[in-house]
Amino acid sequence: MGLVSAACFADVGNDVVCVDKDASKVDILRSGKIPIYEPGLGDIVERSLRAQRLMFTMDLNSALKGCRICFITVDTPSDGEGKADLKNIVAVAEAIGDNLEDEIIVVTKSTVPVGTTLKVKSIIRDRLKQRGKKQELVRVVSNPEFLKEGDAINDFKKPDRVVVGVESGDDVAASILYELYSPFMRKRDKFLKMDVLSSELTKYASNAMLAARISFMNSLARLCDKAGANIELIRAGVGADPRIGSDFLFSGIGYGGSCFPKDVKALMNVAREYGERLPIVEATEDVNNEQVSWFFSKISGKFEQRGGLSDKIFAVWGAAFKGNTDDIRESRAVKLIELLLLAGAGIKLFDPEATPNVKRLFGNKVVYCDSMYDCVNRANALILCTDWNEFKSPNIDRIAEVMKQVVIFDGRNLISHVHYPVGTKYYGVGIPSKE
Ligand code: UDX
Repeated sequence: MGLVSAACFADVGNDVVCVDKDASKVDILRSGKIPIYEPGLGDIVERSLRAQRLMFTMDLNSALKGCRICFITVDTPSDGEGKADLKNIVAVAEAIGDNLEDEIIVVTKSTVPVGTTLKVKSIIRDRLKQRGKKQELVRVVSNPEFLKEGDAINDFKKPDRVVVGVESGDDVAASILYELYSPFMRKRDKFLKMDVLSSELTKYASNAMLAARISFMNSLARLCDKAGANIELIRAGVGADPRIGSDFLFSGIGYGGSCFPKDVKALMNVAREYGERLPIVEATEDVNNEQVSWFFSKISGKFEQRGGLSDKIFAVWGAAFKGNTDDIRESRAVKLIELLLLAGAGIKLFDPEATPNVKRLFGNKVVYCDSMYDCVNRANALILCTDWNEFKSPNIDRIAEVMKQVVIFDGRNLISHVHYPVGTKYYGVGIPSKE
C-alpha cells in the first residue's frame, strides 16, 4: 500500500521518490507497470511518472537528499508466534540513520505495535550519533493507513480520517503533515492529531473491531442455520441502528487478507506483553478460524449420503480473499480448497484476477478455468468463495445446462436472490436453504 500513498501524494503535485531494495520491482515500476492488481493505481502511476513527479530507485542515499518527509511503508508480517516481525522496519531505520544528512520527518505508515515509532527514532538517532551528526535532524510521526485493497485509491483520496501521532509539543511535524494531507481534506477537516502511542494503537483497534463485527455475525449465522432464522434479515435489522451501522456485518466463510488475521494476532500479543488479555479479540480469531471448517462440514454433510467428497468435482468461484483484488494471503477460499483436496475432492477454479497466484500455490492439484461457466461444467457442486461483482448475477440457465445437478454452496450469501430452476439445491451461510 506504500505505492498507493506515493502515487496519490504525487498525483496532487508532490515530488515523490519510492525506494525499494528489490531491483526487479523497481524496473517494473519504472516502466509504468504495477506488480499488483489495484484498480486505478496504474493510471496514476503512469501519469505521475510521465510528469516526473514520481520516481523509483534502489538508492536510499540519493532519495533522502532534499527530502522533507520519509514514509516507512514496509510490511510487518507475523513472526510465526503472532507477533509483528519488525526486522524490515528496523533495517529501514538503520539505513536512514546511516544516510541522513539533512533535517527530516520520518513517518511510520506500516502497521506497528505500540512503541515502534519511538524505537525507530532511537535507532536513527543512534546511527546519527555514531556518524557524529546532530540527533535532532530526525523527528518521528505515526500515521497509520486505513486503505482497503481493491478500493485503496478511493480510500486514500477520500479518507474518513487522517490519524497523525506526534511527540508532545511537536507542532512543527503536525503542521507539515497537515499541509501534506490538506488536498485530501478539502470538504471536511479529517485530521486527528494525537500522541504517537495512541495513533499506533488506533490502527490495530480499528482492524480488530471490524474483524470482531464479522466474527460476531459469523457466529450468529451458525446459530441461524440451526434455529432456522435468516442472518441477512438480522443484519438489516441491527445495521439500521445508527449506533451499530451496516458496514462490515456480512457473514461468510470468514475474513482473510494481509491485515485482519495478522493484526488481530499482533494486537493480542501486544496486550500480552503488557500483561493484559483481550478476550473479545481472542474470540474474534477463534470464530474466524472455525468458520471455514464449519462451512466445509456443511458441504461434506450434504455429500454424506452420496458417497462422500472423494471423486466429486467442485467448481470454486473465487480464490482472492475478497473481490477486486488478486491477493490470496490468508484467503479463506484457499483454506477451503485445501480442506476439499485433503478429503479427495477434485477442484476446478475460476478467479478473475487471482489465478496466477493460486497456480503458484496449488500447481497441478487444481484445474484452472478461463470462465465461470467453464468452471461449473460437469461439476457436482459450485462453491462461491469470493464476492467478485461478476458472480452476483450469474446466468443460471447456462449453469444448469452444464452442471450435473445445480448444487450451490454460497460462502458469501452473494446469490441467494437468484431465481433458481426447480431441483436446485442452494446453501448459504445462516440463510434458509433451497432444496
Ligand atoms: C482492511 C481494512 O478494512 C483497512 O482499513 C486496513 O487498512 C487494512 O485491512 P483489507 O484487508 O483490504 O482492508 O480488506 P477488507 O475489505 O477490510 O476485508 C477483509 C476481510 O473481511 C475480507 O476477507 C472480506 O471478505 C471480509 N469481510 C469484510 C467479511 O467477511 N464481511 C464483511 O462484512 C466485510
